[in-house]
Amino acid sequence: MDKYLCEELMERAVKARLFAYVPYSNFRVGAALLAKNGKIYEGCNIENAAFSPTNCAERTAFFKAVSEGERDFEAIAIVGGDNPPGTYCPPCGVCRQVMLEFCDPANFLVILGNNKKDYKTFLLKDLMPFSFRKENL
Ligand code: THU
Repeated sequence: MDKYLCEELMERAVKARLFAYVPYSNFRVGAALLAKNGKIYEGCNIENAAFSPTNCAERTAFFKAVSEGERDFEAIAIVGGDNPPGTYCPPCGVCRQVMLEFCDPANFLVILGNNKKDYKTFLLKDLMPFSFRKENL
């Protein structure tokens, strides 16, 4: 993917992280999801006193997009916590499974980073090999 688009997604994820509702963990996560039509959906993590209803930033972004009719996605940038340079916040297994529902694992790009200049890209298929998908039903 174009470097400038990656950087823009990173910036949008950093911005989304500001809205994280994290009174229990204080661990802020932001995500910026790029649809194939060019629209970007931002998401943050939203925690809950009962803990399990907590929604990760990535799923917030996906559910916002899907609930507005979006079905085709190209990439997601994720920024979480305060990582040492070169280390990142990897998406949890539940969020990887949600990505697999809507994205082509061989092409969907997961961009993990801390800021516009410090990020790394992965293909979804490498983050979740041998996964369970609609083809398995
Ligand atoms: N979290 C995310 O938002 N995304 C991830 O990929 C990892 C975890 C959130 C959930 C919870 O609010 C906090 O980070 C600590 O687990």
